[in-house]
Amino acid sequence: MRTIALINQKGGVGKTTTAVNLGACLADLGKKVVLIDIDPQGNSSSWMGININELHKSMFNVFHDNLPIKEILHETSIENMWVVPSNVTLAAIERTLANKLENDTILKKSISPLINKFDYIILDCPPSLGLLTVNALSAVREVIIPLETKVLALNGLVTLLNTVNLVKDTLNSSLEVTGIIACMFDVRTNLSNKVVEKIKEKFHDKLFKSIIRESTQLAECPISSLPITRYAPDSRGTQDYMDLAREVVEGEKEVARYYEEDEAETSRHFDEESKEVDQQDDNDEDEIDQHSGEVESEASWQSGEEKNEADQRFGEGEKEE
Ligand SMILES: Nc1ncnc2c1ncn2[C@@H]1O[C@H](COP(=O)(O)OP(=O)(O)OP(=O)(O)O)[C@@H](O)[C@H]1O
Ligand SMILES: [Mg+2]
Repeated sequence: MRTIALINQKGGVGKTTTAVNLGACLADLGKKVVLIDIDPQGNSSSWMGININELHKSMFNVFHDNLPIKEILHETSIENMWVVPSNVTLAAIERTLANKLENDTILKKSISPLINKFDYIILDCPPSLGLLTVNALSAVREVIIPLETKVLALNGLVTLLNTVNLVKDTLNSSLEVTGIIACMFDVRTNLSNKVVEKIKEKFHDKLFKSIIRESTQLAECPISSLPITRYAPDSRGTQDYMDLAREVVEGEKEVARYYEEDEAETSRHFDEESKEVDQQDDNDEDEIDQHSGEVESEASWQSGEEKNEADQRFGEGEKEE
C-alpha cells in the first residue's frame, strides 16, 4: 500500500484537482483508493459529492476527538474510491492543538488501521506548511508536489523541500519525494515549457513524464461532483490524468524497493541490537564499545554528506531565484 501527500504551500496549483482525478484514475485501474481531505476548504470533499456544510463528523473529529477514520469513510460514485471529508471546522484545529503533546503525529496514528486495507491513501493538503501539512508529512511515505507551470516559482519549491527534509530528519525518516507534477501546462505559451525545462534541470528524474495540460473541462468539472473521467471521458484532462495514474502505478516497483530496503534496515537494526545483547552476555564490553563507535562515526559521516548535498542543492535553487 502507498501513502501519498499532495503538497504545495502555494494556493491554486492543482493539489485538489490532482488528488481527485489521480485518485479516480487509479480507482479505474483497479486500485482501492482512499482520498483524505485535510484542507479546511473541503474542496475535494465537495468535489466528490459531499455536502460539507451538513457534515456531522469529519477530519476535525479525527484530530480533535481521536475519532477512527473508518467511521467517516464515505463511498463515492466511483467504484474502488472512498473519501474522508473535511470542512471549515478544521480551520480551528491548528490553534486548538498548538500545545498538545505529539500534535504532529495524530494523523499518522489515525491512518494506521487503514494500512494494507487499501492500495492508495492520498492526502489533499491545505496551501500552507502548518500543523495539518506537518501531520500529513509525518503520516505518509511519499510526497508528490503538484506545480503550476504558469509561473516560475522555484523559491517556494525550495522552502517546501526544506520542510520535507526537516520532517524527514525529525519525525519520519522514511519520507521520500516521489515526484513533481507539472500542472496547468499552457500549450500556447513558451513559459510553461521554460518552467518544465527548469524543473527538469534542477530536479532531474523527479519530474513526472505525464504533464497535466490546462483544460476548460478540468476547470469546470468540480461543480459536476464528478471526476474528469466521468464528466468528460474523452477530454485531454482524462487523458493526462490517466497517463499520470499509469505512470504512478508503474512506479510501484520502485517504491516496493524502498519498502524492502526500509524493512531490511529495520531488521538489520534489530539483528545488530540482539547481537549486541548476546555480546553483552559474554561480557565482551570493549568490543561493543568499539563497534558502536564505528557505527556512530559512519552514521554521522553519512548524514553530514547528505546534508551537504542538500544544502548545495537548495543553495543552487535559491541562487537561481
Ligand atoms: N489543468 C487544469 N486546467 C484548468 N484549470 C485547472 C487545472 N488544474 C486546476 N485548475 C483550476 O485551478 C484552480 C485551482 O486548482 P486546485 O483547486 O486543484 O488547486 P489547489 O492547489 O488545490 O488550491 P488550494 O491551495 O486553494 O487548495 C481551480 O479552479 C481548478 O479548477
Ligand atoms: Mg485544494
